Amino acid sequence: MDVKTAEAIAAGGLRHIAFIMDGNGRWAKVRGKTRNEGHRRGAEVFEKISEYCAEIGIRYVTVYAFSTENWKRPESEVSALMRLFSRYIDTALARLSEKKIRIVFLGDKSVFPEKLRQKMVSLEKRSSVYDRILNIAFNYGGRAEIVTACNMAIEKGASFLTEDDISGNLYTAGCPDPDLIVRTAGEMRLSNFLLWQAAYAEFYYTDTLWPDMTKEDVDAACVEFFKRKRRFGALPDDEKGGK
Ligand code: FPP
Repeated sequence: MDVKTAEAIAAGGLRHIAFIMDGNGRWAKVRGKTRNEGHRRGAEVFEKISEYCAEIGIRYVTVYAFSTENWKRPESEVSALMRLFSRYIDTALARLSEKKIRIVFLGDKSVFPEKLRQKMVSLEKRSSVYDRILNIAFNYGGRAEIVTACNMAIEKGASFLTEDDISGNLYTAGCPDPDLIVRTAGEMRLSNFLLWQAAYAEFYYTDTLWPDMTKEDVDAACVEFFKRKRRFGALPDDEKGGK
C-alpha cells in the first residue's frame, strides 16, 4: 500500500470496509472445478483479505458470507457452505487472538443447529476483548434486519421510532456505517446487504472474481475511495456560499 493511502487510513478516513464476496461459482467453472471448490477457495481468500484489512488499520470489516436467500441453493451447496463456516469457527479463535480481531455475526442465529449456534456465540464472546471488528453476515438479510430492529425498539417501549431507535437495534449497533462497499465479479447491486447502513457508503465494483481477490486489489479500492468527494448531501467547502 502506498504511504499516502496508509496515512489517510491511519487518520481515520476509512474506518469501515465491507465486501460482497461474489464470483466463487464462476471462478470454479472456468477451471473445470466444482462450485464447492470455488467456495473453499473463497473461504481462504476471505481469511486473507479480512486479516489484511485489519493489518492496514481498517478497524471495521464486514463480509457478506451467506444471505437469507442463499438457502434456495441446492442442498449440497448449502451443506458445503455450512461445513466451511463451521470449520472456520473451529479454527478462528486461535488465529484471531494472534491478530486481535473480534468476531460479530450479523444475521438470525436461531435457524442454526444448537451446536453451531453455541459455537458462534462462544466465538463472539471469547473474541470480544479485541477492538478490531470482523462482522460476518451469515443468514443475513437487510430488510429483515430493519424489520427486526423496529420490532425490538417497539418491544423496548418506543411508540414513535427515530433513526437512532433503528440504528441502535441493528446487528451492527455500535459500529459506524460502512465507508466503502466493495463488490467483486462485476455485478452492480446491493443484494439486500446493509440496506440501512449503506446510505452514504461509496461503492467500488471490480470484475475480479472473489477467489482471485488480492491485497493489491484491496489497495486499489482504497486508493479509489480517497479520490471520491464525500458530501453526505451537503456541498463541498469550496462551493459553499456561492451562487
Ligand atoms: C457468491 O458467489 C458467494 C457466496 C454465496 C458465498 C460466499 C462465501 C464465501 C466466500 C466463503 C465464506 C466462508 C466463510 C467461512 C465465512 P457465487 O457462488 O454466487 O458465485 P457465482 O455468482 O460466480 O456463481
